[in-house]
Amino acid sequence: SQVQDMAKEQVKAAKNMAFAFDIDGVLAHGNHAILEARESLKMLNGDNELGIKIPYILLTNGGGKTEEERCQQLSEILEVPISVNQFIQSHTPMQALSEYYETVLVVGGEGFKCRGVAQNYGFKHVYTPKDILAWDQEASPWRCFTEEERVHAHPVDFKRVKFDAILVFADSRDYATDFQLIIDLLLSENGYFGTKSKNLETNSIPIYFSQGDMVMPTQFKGPPRMTQGAFRIAIEAIYKSLTGNDLERVVYGKPELATYKYADEVLKSWMEEIHNENKLPQNVYMVGDNPASDIIGGNMYGWNTCLVRTGVFQGGPGENAPDSPANFGVFDNVLEAVKAVVR
Ligand code: G3P
Ligand code: MG
Repeated sequence: SQVQDMAKEQVKAAKNMAFAFDIDGVLAHGNHAILEARESLKMLNGDNELGIKIPYILLTNGGGKTEEERCQQLSEILEVPISVNQFIQSHTPMQALSEYYETVLVVGGEGFKCRGVAQNYGFKHVYTPKDILAWDQEASPWRCFTEEERVHAHPVDFKRVKFDAILVFADSRDYATDFQLIIDLLLSENGYFGTKSKNLETNSIPIYFSQGDMVMPTQFKGPPRMTQGAFRIAIEAIYKSLTGNDLERVVYGKPELATYKYADEVLKSWMEEIHNENKLPQNVYMVGDNPASDIIGGNMYGWNTCLVRTGVFQGGPGENAPDSPANFGVFDNVLEAVKAVVR
C-alpha cells in the first residue's frame, strides 16, 4: 500500500543519514549538559516515530583527557552511553604521529593529564613543560609551578634528551612557560634542550597543534574567550620576530581537512555498528556553534551544516553567520536542529 511504501522510503532515508555533533556550545558547556542535547541523542538512539537508530559521531576541537575519560564523563552528563568508537577529539588523529616520533614535548591541559593521552597513543618518551621545570625551574622565570606538581613530575637530565617533536594537545595553563620552552626547542640544535641552532631557516623540530580555534564559549557572561589558535598565533609571531622566517607547523582539528577524513573513517565503522553496513551515509549533518570551524569545515567537506545559538555564534533571530553561513539552517538549540533534519 501507499502507506507502507512511504514508511519504507522513510526508513531508507533514515539509514542514509548521520549526524556529526560539536560538543562545546552544542551538547554541553564544559562539564554541564545543554538540556536539549539529552532528548536529541535519545531520539537518535531510536526513541523516534520510526523506532530506528540514526548514527551520530561527536567531533570536537576539545581535548586534554583520554578518549575513555571524556566519553565516560559525556555519558554521565548526557545520560546516554557515548562510545570511544563514535568520538573524535582534537588530538585523536594525532595518534598516527607516534609512528614517526619517539620523544615528544606535550603541551597543554590540566596537570599531567596529557602525558597519559600521549602514552595511550603509543609515544614512547613523553615529557611535559612541568617535567623540565622540575629539573630546572629557572628555565622559566615567570613560571607557575607548585610543590604538588613537583611530586608528580618526571624530571630527567634534559641536557641529554633529544626531542623529536612538540605536540600541543590542549590549552596552555601557563603561557609564559610554554612560550619559552617551545621557542627554546624550535631554535635548538636538533631538539636538544638548552642548545641553540646556528641555522635559523627552519625550526629545528616539528610542531603540531591539535586545533586552531581562536575563541571558545565559556561560563563568562561576556564575549567568547581565547583558545589554542590565539596561543599558536603568538608562538608564530615570536618565532618570526626572532628568526625572520615563518614557523613551519601543522594544525589539526576542525576545519582542517585531515580531521574530516579521519571523521569519515570513524563514521564508516560506526555505520557498521549501527546498520551493519560499512559505507558512508549520503547525508551527513554537522551541528555546530562556531561558524569559523564547525560550519566552514562542514561546508567545505560537502556536509549539511546546522548552526545553533547556544555557543560562540550569537546572531539574532533570522540571522545566519555572515562569512560562512550554515547551509541547512540556524536553530535555537541542538534539538530544534535534529528535529528539522529528521522531519
Ligand atoms: O575550542 C576549544 C573547544 O572548547 C571547542 O570544542 O566541541 O566546540 O569543538 P568544540
Ligand atoms: Mg563548539
